[in-house]
Amino acid sequence: MERHEDAPCRFCGLVPVAPGITSATRVVVRSEAMQTVLKRASRFAASDAPVAIVGETGTGKEVVARILHANSPRAAHPFVAVNVAALPADLLESELFGHGKGAFTGAATARRGLFEAADKGTLFLDEIGDMPLALQAKLLRALQDGEIRRLGESESFAVDVRVVCATHRDLSQRVREGAFREDLLYRLRVLTLEVPPLRDRRDDILLLAHRFLADEHTHVTGFTRAARKRLLAHSWPGNVRELQNAIRHGAALATTQEIDEDDLPAEILRHTGPAGATTAPRGLRTLAEVEREHILYVLDACKGSQSEAARVLGIARNTLWRKLREYAA
Ligand SMILES: Nc1ncnc2c1ncn2[C@@H]1O[C@H](COP(=O)(O)OP(=O)(O)OP(=O)(O)O)[C@@H](O)[C@H]1O
Ligand SMILES: [Mg+2]
Repeated sequence: MERHEDAPCRFCGLVPVAPGITSATRVVVRSEAMQTVLKRASRFAASDAPVAIVGETGTGKEVVARILHANSPRAAHPFVAVNVAALPADLLESELFGHGKGAFTGAATARRGLFEAADKGTLFLDEIGDMPLALQAKLLRALQDGEIRRLGESESFAVDVRVVCATHRDLSQRVREGAFREDLLYRLRVLTLEVPPLRDRRDDILLLAHRFLADEHTHVTGFTRAARKRLLAHSWPGNVRELQNAIRHGAALATTQEIDEDDLPAEILRHTGPAGATTAPRGLRTLAEVEREHILYVLDACKGSQSEAARVLGIARNTLWRKLREYAA
């Protein structure tokens, strides 16, 4: 693995570099909340036990998983990431476990799966809370036995893989809903890391904003005071990813060397976080109008996930569902 000049963090001892991240390879960990997460991760790095990383959408769960891998004894071996919610169960099964020749129509040759590709390294199972139930039993067996079997083959063989998984869902709730196996939950949740939402680590906002701005490689090099104020006041329901998009938007619109508040996306000008309230009211609107707009905005930032949006909004899921039905009427 490529090594980096970056010094390990004095606080947690981890090198805050996550190879493979598209633009910024330097990860921002200024806030105490984020440093605490990485300090905990440093204690997990040497172990082979599974790690579950939880946190709202866009908080940096995959970034943390990559740091964990890069600082583990497995660092010289592959980090293989797969979104287990993105594929239907049968495709996912052959993707994860591979298949033998003739295992199904079209399987002209044998193919190794991602477990094999990640041998001696780390397999990152993203969106584990949405993994098809049918496959959860097979994953549990692989974790328990350290062995896998390709689809359509009868022989099992050992793989040396550390499994790290991530979810924006509440896994205990998924178990109660009957969508997630309890035995798998206990197996995966041996070690947990909780990545805090951006609104709970405001110290990171401006540093992240500058990092993302530098990644744009444009003539724009900073922010006006008003823009900084907006960035700090916003509640960031889409977390770091939303901030990244906002900076991209700002850099594209800025006409001077600094991003001004008007260059930021409209949502950021309309919304302020609970701690914010610095935005001047734009016209007089009813509470219901503001509520509707905010709910739809949060839902959008949560990529349409009603359960996640309800959690961010601090309301029951069926309350959210009822309100959405009213809006659609
Ligand atoms: N601390 C950080 N420093 C620099 N970039 C970061 C940091 N945290 C997140 N990012 C960037 O923000 C984006 C979202 O991060 P990531 O994909 O890890 O989030 P996630 O929690 O896995 O999101 P999702 O729940 O949607 O899968 C990525 O482009 C990532 O590079
Ligand atoms: Mg992710």
